[in-house]
Amino acid sequence: MSVSVLDVIRFLGGVSGLLQVASVLGLVLLLLKAAQLYLHRQWLLRAVQEFPSPPSHWLFGHMHELQNGQELQELQKRAEKYPCASPRWLWGSRVSLVVYDPDYMKVILGRSDPKSDGSYRFMAPWIGYGLLLLNGQTWFQHRRMLTPAFHYDILKPYVGLMADSVQVMLGKWEELLSQNSSLEIFGHISLMTLDTLMKCAFSYQGNKQADRLTPEGRWNHRACQLAHQHTDRVIKLRKAQLQEEGNLEKVRSKRHLDFLDILLFAQMENKSSFSDKDLRAEVDTFMFEGHDTTASGISWILYALATHPEHQQKCREEIQSLLGDGASITWGHLEQMPYTTMCIKEALRLYPPVPGVGRELSKPITFPDGRSLPKGFLVLLSFYALHHNPKVWPNPEVFDPSRFAPDSSRHSHAFLPFSGGSRNCIGKQFAMNEMKVAVALTLLHFELAPDPFRLPVPTPKIVLMSKNGIHLHLRKLL
Ligand code: HEM
Repeated sequence: MSVSVLDVIRFLGGVSGLLQVASVLGLVLLLLKAAQLYLHRQWLLRAVQEFPSPPSHWLFGHMHELQNGQELQELQKRAEKYPCASPRWLWGSRVSLVVYDPDYMKVILGRSDPKSDGSYRFMAPWIGYGLLLLNGQTWFQHRRMLTPAFHYDILKPYVGLMADSVQVMLGKWEELLSQNSSLEIFGHISLMTLDTLMKCAFSYQGNKQADRLTPEGRWNHRACQLAHQHTDRVIKLRKAQLQEEGNLEKVRSKRHLDFLDILLFAQMENKSSFSDKDLRAEVDTFMFEGHDTTASGISWILYALATHPEHQQKCREEIQSLLGDGASITWGHLEQMPYTTMCIKEALRLYPPVPGVGRELSKPITFPDGRSLPKGFLVLLSFYALHHNPKVWPNPEVFDPSRFAPDSSRHSHAFLPFSGGSRNCIGKQFAMNEMKVAVALTLLHFELAPDPFRLPVPTPKIVLMSKNGIHLHLRKLL
């Protein structure tokens, strides 16, 4: 079969015709998309017109605020300059209202808007759809089911387990101090809080503080798989154990129920609404929420005390008179350290471990000052900016524990390290206990001072971290 020159020309003509049609179609689609983006941007602009904000680029918005490593400072400037809340543009067609006023917080946290997809979706492969990420009716069911896991009867025996983990860490610090008097504490504290959580929530007796997982490694895909395998193993073992032990009452009479028991018994009762996947998501959620947050909290509290020796000493004296050498710290002691508790709260104000949370408005909202936003709008509740807002906290940068003195008063939504409303932190009491135990035992054993050459630089990841770690000088006391 022969192909003539004419055939080739005809064929090419056909191809170029097709290409022309495709390019026209492409152009039309592009124009439609551009028109859609333009209209959406106009809608957003109208929605936020009552809320002034720092000048923004039409395309890059306020991206520079996030990229120059000054995000926290920029938030603080907003709180100083723009009352209650201000829009933050991410690219030209995406905006969220950053909120840092107690009345605004109260209105939003009093509703039941879902978590904003953009701020949370990236966590799903890691922790699954557990309590933190769920919304609506399923969230409500799980929350009701898990609440008994935080009853004080369950939390009481955890104090001893927490103290054991802290003592292991302090022992390690003592050894390390013979080589160097300055120590990066964040990494050690993360291992310690993971250890504590594994012991309390899953009665896991391994020693997480001797395992080696690098902070970088924890966040990669392999680590995700490893964590899931680990979770599956823990669940499988316990299921087998429970089958041997019998029903809830029998188990309860033999040993204290932990978080995993409560989940598994709940699953037995509600098999249809609570799958194995749901169970794993809850376990992973607790592993994440229950240790990174407290690690951040404890690290920043110790840093705050290191930089304020007079308050540090006052706490130490309070703890010494309560505990002596601290060999046995119990639940009963935790309510008897008022000054230390004030310092812990003041540090949580200055360095909130969860710097902010996001919501997507499921219906329009009107704030107490009459300004409003339409349904579908994104809001970022910045606890960091709230806690550093000079209209809420005079001289916000000053570490002043007396703000939390027993006779002090403040707006119900001025201090929100654990958020508020129905979606507040379910682990608040657990976290406060762990922070008290860790701070009390550390102060009994060591005097803390900052390392002036390596001051921490707070940076908002999912939890508040320091770009360069938290380095402290420690001096052995006991
Ligand atoms: C200092 C330590 C902690 C801080 C500052 C903290 C803070 C918070 C905040 C701000 C939220 C709200 C998140 C949002 O709305 O997106 C939250 C939720 C949550 N926290 Fe904590 N948390 C801490 C410790 C813990 C611990 C120890 C556990 C578990 C053992 C825990 C479990 C959870 C869970 C499961 C949720 C989701 C609750 C729900 O949506 O119903 N947290 N936490």
